[in-house]
Amino acid sequence: MATVFYEPSTRTRFSFEAAMMRLGGNVITTEAAGQFSSALKGETLEDSVKVISGYADAIVIRHPEVGSAERAAKASSVPVINAGDGGGEHPTQALLDAFTINEEIGHIDGIKVAMVGDLLNGRTIHSLLFLLGQYNNLKFQLVAPDQLQLPEDYKNFLDKKGFKYDEIDTLEKLDADTDVMYVTRVQKERFSDSAEYQRLKHFFVVDRHVTSKLKDKAIIMHPLPRVGEIAVEVDDDPRAAYFRQAKNGLYVREALLAHILG
Ligand code: NCD
Repeated sequence: MATVFYEPSTRTRFSFEAAMMRLGGNVITTEAAGQFSSALKGETLEDSVKVISGYADAIVIRHPEVGSAERAAKASSVPVINAGDGGGEHPTQALLDAFTINEEIGHIDGIKVAMVGDLLNGRTIHSLLFLLGQYNNLKFQLVAPDQLQLPEDYKNFLDKKGFKYDEIDTLEKLDADTDVMYVTRVQKERFSDSAEYQRLKHFFVVDRHVTSKLKDKAIIMHPLPRVGEIAVEVDDDPRAAYFRQAKNGLYVREALLAHILG
């Protein structure tokens, strides 16, 4: 497996690599591919991928441009897995997120989910919504400042699925019967205006005051990294599922690689 990462990663790259090694396979890798590959010399993504696909049986790619993984897949002779294409999608995160919900709650149909944070740029949110669209009767609260609300396309998707949602801009209005609170980081790297990022980065902070309103069986998720939007004091709460969630990434990616490579 070749892991080709043009954007930073801790969980996604390490868990893919650990997954492949646990399956008995090997890994060739480049982090900071923008600096340490021929991209720096001006090579196109397509040419790089065409060459790398001659050296590996699968390619896992993370790249800052929306649609990059799809372009890579067209150029590649081996399967390409999207590990994040800019503010677009992050489908393998969605798989581990859905797996975690099912493990922790016992089912996915009928749950109420609060999506909190940067719903505009958060690719994990986008992919998770599409995956949850495979289930039935979900309800959503979209908790974000106006500037970071969910793009229309995804809201249209929820409408088409018949899923009810409300858009709110404060955690004070969080429903007490929420099953899953899914918190995200404000995506600094997607902002052209750093003052705007500074204004919005801690718009929400989930602390014990917030979690005290959630029911006993609720869970708190986050794709990580967090940069202050969940207070460390929440970590001891048995409902804090984010580190278990990150661990699940290993198992889900093992299953995915085994599936793809037969
Ligand atoms: C996420 C990502 O890269 O989109 N991280 C991850 O893969 N777990 C979330 C983020 O960076 O905020």
